[in-house]
Amino acid sequence: MRHVSLGGLDVSRIGLGCMGMSAFYTGAGTDEAEAVRTIHRAIDLGVTLLDTAEVYGPYTNEELVGRALADRRDEVVLATKFGILSHSGPGARRGPDSSPRNIRAAVEGSLRRLGTDRIDLYYQHRVDPDTPIEETMGALAELVADGKIRYVGLSEAGPGTIRRAHAAHPVAALQTEYSLWTRDPETDVLPLTRELGIGFVPYSPLGRGFLTGRIRSRDQLDDTDFRKDNPRFSEANFEQNLRIADEVEAIARDAGATPAQTALAWLLAQGDTIAPIPGTKRVSRLEENVAADTLTLTPEQLTRLAALSAPSGDRYTDMSPLNR
Ligand SMILES: NC(=O)c1ccc[n+]([C@@H]2O[C@H](COP(=O)([O-])OP(=O)(O)OC[C@H]3O[C@@H](n4cnc5c(N)ncnc54)[C@H](OP(=O)(O)O)[C@@H]3O)[C@@H](O)[C@H]2O)c1
Repeated sequence: MRHVSLGGLDVSRIGLGCMGMSAFYTGAGTDEAEAVRTIHRAIDLGVTLLDTAEVYGPYTNEELVGRALADRRDEVVLATKFGILSHSGPGARRGPDSSPRNIRAAVEGSLRRLGTDRIDLYYQHRVDPDTPIEETMGALAELVADGKIRYVGLSEAGPGTIRRAHAAHPVAALQTEYSLWTRDPETDVLPLTRELGIGFVPYSPLGRGFLTGRIRSRDQLDDTDFRKDNPRFSEANFEQNLRIADEVEAIARDAGATPAQTALAWLLAQGDTIAPIPGTKRVSRLEENVAADTLTLTPEQLTRLAALSAPSGDRYTDMSPLNR
């Protein structure tokens, strides 16, 4: 597995998103043994970057990852996130909250659940409009000084926030949705990360599974599945968007690869500071996704992928917390 540097943090260029093992998607939380096997197989195949967040579950995904890493903590770069939940009043409530007080409470919980004494990459999950980013970065810099976290990341931050944050303390990585059907970062944040030497971690690189061509009907999704209410998976847009999955499938056939591998190889071809974190809770899909490391698409295939039809529907029901 090839590696990339996220602002100085060395990671395998394909990581593993652990969210769907515990939350949001159909089947989450139903097979812990297979989820743990998936994490272990990832490590065996050279994946070092594992992604979770306190809000996944909440908490249960960090606990699962912590159990899986009981004997293997030192083999991975462990990334988690704070800031969607608030612990700064009595009890936990929905945030956003990136106040120093909340960060100091959140990090202790994440360290405990993950069973570790340090988090390698600690992301602000969403920008908090009520806390100046300089205050947030100041609190994070203190955690770095204390050895509780090693590197700092942002998620879905806009260009102005990224610049201000990076001026206060180095930002190692920006984690934002980026895939064949979500090209928004190319306008400004991806060029900015290149300019500032910040790594880019595309989340939902398989379009939440849609780009793999394996989701052909809304009936495959439980009513509790986050995607059931996502505009791109809605009754109104689903059929229309299937054309995109079909186009990816045709190019994948040409490349002698699967659609998932093709979607990942396209992302990897966008630069050498990019480390997508495809999510799966199954060993077989993990193996399939990791094999994208050795897939090189031809210039013609890359051009065809870049010219896919535009998706119907926003990527979230509420776009307001994004790109702040
Ligand atoms: N920062 C943020 O705000 C944010 C938001 C969303 C996600 N994330 C992170 O990014 C990670 C990845 O994103 P994601 O899980 O939303 O979406 P994704 O990686 O685009 O897709 C995951 C979905 O695709 C399926 N899948 C995976 N590999 C497949 C394959 N080879 N063939 C067919 N289906 C396949 C998975 O199902 P199975 O599990 O059943 O295989 C799952 O339903 C998450 O785990 C999380 O850590 C971050």
